[in-house]
Amino acid sequence: MRAYSLIAPAKINLHLEILGDRPDGYHELAMVMQSISLSDRVEVRANATERLQVHCNHTQVPQDSTNLAYRAAELMTIEFPEAFQRYGGVKISLDKQIPVAAGLAGGSANAAAVLVGIDLLWKLGLTQSELQELGAKIGSDVPFCLSGGTAIATGRGDKISPLPDLEDIHVVLAKYRNLAVSTAWAYQTYRQQFGHNYPSDTNTLEDRAKRVHSGPLIQAIAQHDAAKIGQLMHNDLEKVVLPAHNLVSELKTALLACNPLGTMMSGSGPTVFALAKSKTHAEAIQAQIKQMLPDPQLDTWTAQFCPQGIQVS
Ligand code: C5P
Repeated sequence: MRAYSLIAPAKINLHLEILGDRPDGYHELAMVMQSISLSDRVEVRANATERLQVHCNHTQVPQDSTNLAYRAAELMTIEFPEAFQRYGGVKISLDKQIPVAAGLAGGSANAAAVLVGIDLLWKLGLTQSELQELGAKIGSDVPFCLSGGTAIATGRGDKISPLPDLEDIHVVLAKYRNLAVSTAWAYQTYRQQFGHNYPSDTNTLEDRAKRVHSGPLIQAIAQHDAAKIGQLMHNDLEKVVLPAHNLVSELKTALLACNPLGTMMSGSGPTVFALAKSKTHAEAIQAQIKQMLPDPQLDTWTAQFCPQGIQVS
C-alpha cells in the first residue's frame, strides 16, 4: 500500500488530578481518559521524495516542524533510518474536525495516527506498547490516543491502564472559537497556587496514584453507570482556568443549568463538556446552550463515547 487513511478520535478527561511535581519539570498525574467520536481523518502517503510534508484544511494548524504530526514522522525517520531510506518520505494530510488548542488532544491524536500510518507504510510491525513508547516522546497524551477507549493514565499521563469500554454515553462539547488556554501556563499556575499541598514523599504520591484505581469513579465505570460518572467527574485544572477565564466559567454554569448528567472542563480547557443520557438528551442540551448563550463565537458539538483509539479506515 502507498497510503493509509486513519481515524483519530478526540479525548475528554473524566478525571484529572495533579499529584505532584516531577524532576523532569512535568507533573505527576492521575487521570481517567475517554475517547469520543469527534475525530480527525489523517492520511499518510508515501512521498516521491525524502521530504516530510504536512497539509491541513485548518488555517490555525502549523504545517511545519512545530506540528505534532510532523514531529511524529520526524521521530520515525530518526528511530528507523533504514526503513526511511528504503521507503522514503511521507505526505500527511490532516482533515480537522477536532477543534484546535481545545483540551481535546487533537494534535496528539494526529501524531498517534501518523505513528500508526508510518508503521504500516514501512511494514515495521510495531506492537501497541512500542508505539506508545514512541508516542510518549512526542507528547504526554499520545500514548492514550493510540489505544483510546476508556483508560487510567498516570505518570506524566503516558502510563496507560485500560478500563472496561463505555458505550452509548453521549456528550455535548462547547468552546469559544478564539479562546485558547496554554497547557503549560495552566500547570505552572496550578503549581504556584497549590504546589504547597503536594505530598512531600514519593510513597504518598504512589499511594495517591493507586487510590484512583480503586476509587468510586472506576466503580461507576465498571457498572456502566453514566449518571454516577457524571456526578463524580473532577478536574484540578478548573481551579486555575475557571477564575482566569470568565467565559469558560460562565459556559460551565450555563451547561449545568441544562440538566446534564454532569459537566466538566476537558484537560486544560477551554472546551467544556456535558454528559447526556441519550442522543436526544445531548441534542436538547446543545439546543438549550445555544439559546442561553447566543454568541456566534460559541461552537458546539455532540458526540458519543467510543471504545477505540486510532483506527485504519
Ligand atoms: O506533554 P505535552 O507536551 O503535551 O505537555 C504540554 C505542557 O503541559 C508541558 O510542556 C508541561 O508544561 C505541561 N504538562 C505538565 N505535566 C504533565 C503534562 C503536561 O506540566 N504531566
